[in-house]
Amino acid sequence: MENKKCEGCSECNKDPDMEKILSKYKQEKDNLIQILNEVQEHYGYIPESAQKAISEYLSIPMAEIYGVVTFYSRFTLKPKGKYHIAVCLGTACFVKGSEKILDRVKERLKIDVGETTKDGKFSLEATRCIGACGLAPVFTINGEVYGKSTVKMMDEVLDKYIAEN
Ligand code: FES
Repeated sequence: MENKKCEGCSECNKDPDMEKILSKYKQEKDNLIQILNEVQEHYGYIPESAQKAISEYLSIPMAEIYGVVTFYSRFTLKPKGKYHIAVCLGTACFVKGSEKILDRVKERLKIDVGETTKDGKFSLEATRCIGACGLAPVFTINGEVYGKSTVKMMDEVLDKYIAEN
């Protein structure tokens, strides 16, 4: 009798956490954003395996899910760092020099927008207006807002977190 090697399938590769999340929702397309929100919260990003599971569960093509994930800045395809830095590049912040602040982070941490440092400590995002234009230029770290910011301010914040063990 031929001994056929298992090539793996979505049945035996199911992630119990993902199963638990999906079981809360009806298999309706309208639930996509809510499911993605929960996955982002649970894993800190949207893993490819989760996209596959959602695609099967809601009968939505992977490409469509990928399109939604990349459209909304709150969803990420890679794990965020312990400190997630978001620099606003909205108009008010941009004209007040936020790009220089963003460039400084890239230069010091040697990462680009959408990336995480190798040690997992920092990740970087460029955002649209976050609704704090009166404080422009603005950046946030784990949601904490730093207003009227400067390259020097970013340097000081980075120094503090880099020095921390
Ligand atoms: S443009 Fe940056 S907060 Fe509005």
